[in-house]
Amino acid sequence: MIDSHGRTLQDLRISVTDRCNFRCLYCLPETEAALNFYRGRWANAQDSPAIARSWTPKASLLSFEEIARFVGIACQRGIDKIRVTGGEPLLRKDLHKLIALIASHSGVRDLAMTSNGFSFAQHAQALRDAGLHRITFSLDSLRPEMFRKMTGRDGLKEVLGSIGLARALGLKPVKVNAVIIRGMNDGEIPALADFARAEALSLRFIEYMPLDSARAWQKDMVVPGREILALLQKHFPLQPCLASNPSETARRWRIPGSEAEIGIIAPVSEPFCGHCNRLRLTADGQIRTCLFSTVEHDLRDRMRRGDSDESLSAFLDQTVWLKEDRHHIGEPGFQQPERSMSCIGG
Ligand code: GTP
Ligand code: 5AD
Ligand code: SF4
Repeated sequence: MIDSHGRTLQDLRISVTDRCNFRCLYCLPETEAALNFYRGRWANAQDSPAIARSWTPKASLLSFEEIARFVGIACQRGIDKIRVTGGEPLLRKDLHKLIALIASHSGVRDLAMTSNGFSFAQHAQALRDAGLHRITFSLDSLRPEMFRKMTGRDGLKEVLGSIGLARALGLKPVKVNAVIIRGMNDGEIPALADFARAEALSLRFIEYMPLDSARAWQKDMVVPGREILALLQKHFPLQPCLASNPSETARRWRIPGSEAEIGIIAPVSEPFCGHCNRLRLTADGQIRTCLFSTVEHDLRDRMRRGDSDESLSAFLDQTVWLKEDRHHIGEPGFQQPERSMSCIGG
């Protein structure tokens, strides 16, 4: 599938729920601590974190069968890499059954998941047995107090346990995402890198993007990737890794003497849209051609009214053609998408 800018799409990211058991500052900042952080510092933060949230009702979610049907169609059109996301995907009941359905498609070369890691231990073996290849966890701090400020929950111990368990189960490589927010966890950059070095992890520092439910994001909260790199270079003799494919989100570095990899994902200060090969499906069956799309394309309606595979395949081709050339973060007139990252998937 080729878009009108000449990019070939191969990567499908499927959100299976918009629910989450965390309240990350950069995604669902809906705790008193989040309010305290944003209030006073930046003018457009909402007054109350108690956003009247309604989760998508079950009947509006795509069923596992509907998702698997779409995966089959998408694979025939060239998708070969799938990432299951949320919200928190492990909150979707019997998720391992969906993983097994997706894994059964011969076109799926790579099957990954992004999770906050809080409840991974209860599901790990079933996911592995179902055919999950690898997993990415979020870990924004190694200090319990800061972890709670960043995520709204006391979950550091569980997440650290999940990282170890995923490795023990051979879900390789285990990747770890750390979103850095100035004035919060930016002091922990060297410590997080040192943790990656000691544990031989692939840890990626990510610039904060305007995808939070409170619309409290401000440019001053972003720690630019080059600043993160300069800081890390003071502590570690980093060696650059060659990009394994042009659509990679991270620029990667090795720490000599360790299997660890440090990635820097800088979508705000150094956009990588020109090589983007990603397509997204929301839990309620909308196709999004960009994280920052302001329009969505209704797959669920077409499926439920009885469209054939051929017709859905043609719809997919037409939708992909419309993929945006790039995001416009920081430009005048930038419009934040209506839905937060918890609905779109990372
Ligand atoms: P794999 O290659 O599948 O391992 O994925 P990855 O290394 O790109 O990592 P992942 O898919 O976990 O993405 C990491 C983070 O990069 C996400 O959580 C987002 O913050 C950011 N990101 C991913 N895709 C996009 C994208 O299309 N646009 C932008 N602006 N940011 C993205
Ligand atoms: N900016 C950057 N990354 C984000 N994520 C969630 N919200 C944001 C944001 N506003 C990433 C986190 C998480 C994944 C699901 O998405 O890294 O691990
Ligand atoms: Fe939940 Fe992930 Fe959003 Fe955090 S980033 S609130 S873990 S969906």
